[in-house]
Amino acid sequence: MVIAIDGFSSTGKSSLAKRLANEFHFLYVDTGAMYRMVALKVLKSNWLSVDGEVNEELLKQGLRSISIDFNSSCKGENRAMLDGEMVENDIRSMDVNSVVSRISSLSIVRKQLVKQQQNMSLGRDLVMDGRDIGTVVFPNADLKIFMKANDDIRAERRLKELRSNGNLEVSFDQVKNNLIQRDRDDQAREDSPLIQAEGARVIDNSRQSEDDVFQLVSSWVRKINNN
Ligand code: DC
Repeated sequence: MVIAIDGFSSTGKSSLAKRLANEFHFLYVDTGAMYRMVALKVLKSNWLSVDGEVNEELLKQGLRSISIDFNSSCKGENRAMLDGEMVENDIRSMDVNSVVSRISSLSIVRKQLVKQQQNMSLGRDLVMDGRDIGTVVFPNADLKIFMKANDDIRAERRLKELRSNGNLEVSFDQVKNNLIQRDRDDQAREDSPLIQAEGARVIDNSRQSEDDVFQLVSSWVRKINNN
């Protein structure tokens, strides 16, 4: 069984996906973390041209040897591993936030990551969250969810995450503007834009508690499993 969860930034996709994975013993894959790892690699390796744009030739070469993976040994949590190094906190920084949409709009990046994501499903039940899971990665997913939430609630959620990672300087407005800009970029890109997949069930996370959403989606999963 494949559950595809898409939607805007910080709408609670990962929290829902993690709970579902625990409840039903599915593999959880955070595809946003995969794009974030590529963005971090670009920043660390300085695969940028003088005008600050990504140097696609360097990126193309670098993608041949990059290792993007998850380590699930830490208390059942998935930890992002870039080239064998744990980067779970680094990929959530504002530096990465500000370049990740640009990098994830590049077809060479998407092609490689989508292939890796599709291979992860072989012989396993999984829940995957991102922007193009129900449209491109698994258009035949058994259950497709599309998540939205009010801008202030989303910004509050991301700010809390940043603060708990020790990022104390960032302001609410900075976080909110970044979220709104990223959503715009994700919706406007040519390759695999963020759109609601055909057959997706829409959830507005600002109107329901995290627990209510989890219970609702769990009931859908049970129903599909029993059929
Ligand atoms: O879910 P997130 O905020 O961690 O994702 C970070 C960025 O990665 C987001 O701005 C868009 C991009 N992304 C994407 O293009 N496709 C996906 N399947 C997942 C994320």
